[in-house]
Amino acid sequence: MRVLVTGGAGFIGSNFVLRTLATRTDVDVSVLDAFTYAANPASLLGVDGKEVCEVIRGDIRDAELVERLVQRFDAVVHFAAESHNDNSLVDADPFVSTNVMGTVNLAKACAASDVRLHHVSTDEVFGDLALDDPTRFTTTTPYRPSSPYSASKASADHFVRAWVRSLGLAATISNCSNNYGPRQHPEKFIPRQVCGLIRGRRPRVYGTGDNVRDWIHVDDHNDAVWAILDRGEVGQTYLIGADGERSNLEVVGDILAGFDRSRDDFVHVTDRPGHDRRYAIDPESMEELGWEPRYRDFTAGLAATIEWYRDNEDWWADAYDAAEAGYAQREREL
Ligand code: NAD
Ligand code: DAU
Repeated sequence: MRVLVTGGAGFIGSNFVLRTLATRTDVDVSVLDAFTYAANPASLLGVDGKEVCEVIRGDIRDAELVERLVQRFDAVVHFAAESHNDNSLVDADPFVSTNVMGTVNLAKACAASDVRLHHVSTDEVFGDLALDDPTRFTTTTPYRPSSPYSASKASADHFVRAWVRSLGLAATISNCSNNYGPRQHPEKFIPRQVCGLIRGRRPRVYGTGDNVRDWIHVDDHNDAVWAILDRGEVGQTYLIGADGERSNLEVVGDILAGFDRSRDDFVHVTDRPGHDRRYAIDPESMEELGWEPRYRDFTAGLAATIEWYRDNEDWWADAYDAAEAGYAQREREL
């Protein structure tokens, strides 16, 4: 099977590539990535310093390139996106062009060449839940996105479904909850605090810190994507989650404990406008495919992640400094 991975130099995509190469000898992987600020070329280098697979430097907004490329593959796994909510509140344009138009280009090209598409989406398309709401997101929850990022992902999902129903595309969609693990950009919550602590800086918690995210290890997400590629039904949507609900205060406390610091040794900073309160996934659609998470112990997964950032400062140092320069302009201590 020949698989093209878009966004394969980013967090989840690079973990998908490395895990696939390690576990699936029947699969030939290539990456298509525009290498935005969010990519890290080092993520795709082997111990010999060479790229672990074919890496094509190109943009999914380039319709001609996409059309030409996908013909060489049996399937496209589509991770490429602008992925950070905070950035989408500063400038939504790249989110619209990459997340919406880039996905439309892939849908068109895959339909034209009869190539299977798996579109990687997010639980944020459903908006948020109240903290005391006993329900979780299911495959029938209506879309109610809150940020330009989640609106662009919701839009992309609708386009993929339209191409499946009306234009002969063989596609599946997955909506996953918050991922953690190695090689996540230090602009995101967990690596930002971990890298900050390594640098001697106290963690920064938006607003009250009561907001809840449903954490899943990146390898569990990527194994779920393979379960969908192997056994999923074309036209279906799958919700991926690992029963990992935790408040930001709990997570930051666990991170601080991992550094032998008091659980409340952090600062509250300006809240994110429109900050979603809670995400929670009902993973029934994935359980029906026989998938289940392997990383059930969040504290152990987090400890391994902290270890990875301690051991790989070269990987994150420049990206951390650049992200902090941006945060410094819009964030203040409460
Ligand atoms: P990331 O920001 O770490 O990586 C995105 C990658 O896409 C980067 O390598 C970047 O260079 C590439 N890219 C961006 N624009 C591109 C373009 N126009 N053409 C080609 N490549 C381009 O993102 P991530 O956290 O790995 O997320 C990957 C996917 O998973 C996204 O679609 C995101 O919406 C989705 N998702 C993420 C999470 C999460 O917790 N991180 C959860 C659920 C779903
Ligand atoms: O739910 C899936 C989504 O998870 C993905 O679709 C997105 O691509 C991914 O970025 C993530 O979105 P979030 O906005 O939930 O992730 P982020 O890491 O930015 O923030 C997680 C929580 O932590 C959120 O409630 C905001 C808060 N936060 C974030 C940062 C960066 C802080 O309290 N302090 C911070 O410094």
